[in-house]
Amino acid sequence: MTDQQTPTSAIPEPPVSRWWGCAPELRRDTLGFLLRCQSYGDVVKLPMGRVLELLLRQPDAFYLLNHPADVKHVLVTNQDNYQKAPVPPVESRIFGQGVLHTEGDRHHCQRRLFLPFFHGNHVTAYSSLITDSAQAHMARWHDGMTIDIGQEMAHLTLSIIWRLLFGQELRADAGLIRESISAGQRLIKIQYDSLLASLIPLWIPIPRHRRFTRGFQIIEDTILRCITERRRSSEPQDDVLSLLLTATDHQGHPLSDREIRDELMTFLLAGHETTANALTWTWLLLVQDQSVWERLSSELKEVLGDHLPTAVDLPRLRYLKMIWDESLRLYPPAWSLHTRVARVEDRLPSGAILPSGSWAFVSPWNLHRNPRWFPNPERFDPMRFSDEAVRARPVYAYIPFGAGGRRCLGESFAELEGLLILATIASNVRLRLDDGQTIHPEPGMTLHPKAPIQMTVQRVGFPTTHPVVA
Ligand code: HEM
Repeated sequence: MTDQQTPTSAIPEPPVSRWWGCAPELRRDTLGFLLRCQSYGDVVKLPMGRVLELLLRQPDAFYLLNHPADVKHVLVTNQDNYQKAPVPPVESRIFGQGVLHTEGDRHHCQRRLFLPFFHGNHVTAYSSLITDSAQAHMARWHDGMTIDIGQEMAHLTLSIIWRLLFGQELRADAGLIRESISAGQRLIKIQYDSLLASLIPLWIPIPRHRRFTRGFQIIEDTILRCITERRRSSEPQDDVLSLLLTATDHQGHPLSDREIRDELMTFLLAGHETTANALTWTWLLLVQDQSVWERLSSELKEVLGDHLPTAVDLPRLRYLKMIWDESLRLYPPAWSLHTRVARVEDRLPSGAILPSGSWAFVSPWNLHRNPRWFPNPERFDPMRFSDEAVRARPVYAYIPFGAGGRRCLGESFAELEGLLILATIASNVRLRLDDGQTIHPEPGMTLHPKAPIQMTVQRVGFPTTHPVVA
């Protein structure tokens, strides 16, 4: 890192098309392109190209931040100078004014409402919901059965988030809800990738719009029905819906159905596929490294014996936590943070100057695979998360849950859920990767495997009881 100022014109940039900027490279190989950009410096200018600049009057470039000190500056220290960049129309339609996309007072008020609910101590009350769901889900697997691990994890985490939000089982067809969410996510990705696609209004009935509209109508109707039913019943429950029904907005008014719908939709989407993908990647890493799985099995046997895991066991499941952290390093579900726009010119700790209105781009995928902080970055090695190793590197080199005032609200819940699901399943079954599969990560709304990953189940143990509380 230097102490000198680097004017915008001197910020290094990769060679790209004058007219189309880095768009073709990003579309062809987003993840590889980002990694290649590391060699250009702490801050890399990614030109948007003349076409976008002229058509959209967008800034001429993104600035990719590769240094943890700059990341901390933009996300934390000087976060008030940055706001989220505008999103494609379909994303606004899905999330509305939910906490993911608001700014200023409104956003602060929303976070104040949710923070106590998602605080570690409150969240641990959901332990048995998580382990019971994992156990019930796993009960459907028989010895020798082949499963699509991504699909299995998505169904499991959807059923758990549904209970957290609505306090009841998912009554609608889970497969239909999953397919509707996927159709929405595919459309968001298409609109991010193609300017033309994002300019076609949603009411024009092309097939992908029709699929999206049909799917979202189903989810929206289900959510609105849950709101109406709960308003009628006088019984409050310990779920997000009850929290929202008793809340007030930043001007002191009770929330409308629309506002409640926006929050629930936000949590439904932000809170299930991220965790499902984190779990899918973790299983993949485990099946590919038998020695890590063996060591995990020993830890689980020693700490849990024959009982189901609870939040109380987690501090002693140290190796499991290191596996989870390392998996989130290699395959961060939020592979890129939402682009931030600088309100006024800003000088970063690395010396680069970001002009007013410029777009700052932070990618956990890229930061987590920087050999400066993670030598031999492709290697799966849970020991990178020993206390000693963590202390030896900058905090903001590892940000799977983001940082600052927009840090993930569901982090404690996601971690509890991820660790308990891994411990419950790994105590009962051994998974084996089926032969002949080529696995690649695909950066969509979240980082997911490009094709389904097939695994075979082998049952090994039956710790079925909850621990006896003295
Ligand atoms: C492994 C699982 C998860 C990962 C890796 C993850 C990652 C993230 C990241 C990186 C952000 C910040 C995005 C940015 O700054 O642009 C974020 C925001 C958010 N996450 Fe998560 N998340 C996970 C699970 C969850 C869960 C389970 C929930 C809810 C129960 C949740 C709810 C949210 C919400 C509401 C926000 C928006 C916060 C705001 O803008 O103030 N996430 N998440």
